[in-house]
Amino acid sequence: MRLDQYLAKACGLSRSAARTAVRAGKVKRNGTVCKAADTALSAQDEVVYEGKPVVWREFVYIMLDKPAGILSAARDARERTVVDLVAKDYPGRALFPAGRLDKQSTGFILLTDDGALAHELLSPKKHVEKTYEVVLDTPVTREMVQGFEQGVTLADGETMKPAKLLCDETRPCFARVVLTQGVYHQIKRMFGVYGAGVNELRRVAIGEVVLDDALGLGGFRELTERELASLKR
Ligand code: URA
Repeated sequence: MRLDQYLAKACGLSRSAARTAVRAGKVKRNGTVCKAADTALSAQDEVVYEGKPVVWREFVYIMLDKPAGILSAARDARERTVVDLVAKDYPGRALFPAGRLDKQSTGFILLTDDGALAHELLSPKKHVEKTYEVVLDTPVTREMVQGFEQGVTLADGETMKPAKLLCDETRPCFARVVLTQGVYHQIKRMFGVYGAGVNELRRVAIGEVVLDDALGLGGFRELTERELASLKR
């Protein structure tokens, strides 16, 4: 890989900012200043930028607390997307959301450029649980709980995998739903079978990784090593 490409990707710089940094003599290769942006690096080369060793990260993994009104897509011609919310901090990265939330839903979106991990997390065969908090326009019923447990058949005839519906005795219209698949509008359609509308929907966990409360809507941070290891497991 070229030095400017490497620097851009590893340090989150744009390609032109990386080139400028190299030409300005801010980058050393194996202890010597290197001003040629097109220098081809080998795997053993050590790069230092502004005095700090550059640590190569092949992929990044970002936990975002998606606000309502933002599209779960990499880019869109008209509307703001989840990637737009973080793009400034990751200019060299082809990020995308690993899984979608509806435009009005909020909560945990994992943004990454690791296609293989995203594929695993989304595969129904891997049974990765996604946990949602839901506010309904009507109380949760025993019929709903049993139906979710057995696998709800949607209005179009498709039967969903068994899901957990956990209610809260102090809040009759509030529930936690745990799914292992991601069908379009799945939760809204599952409750729709029982004539219930979803007023609020928030994803709070993917697998064992719980959305960080401290982020707040629109906030994001990278996964810790422990969180990433748990997702990879
Ligand atoms: N199910 C839905 O209906 N909407 C979401 O955003 C996620 C799951």
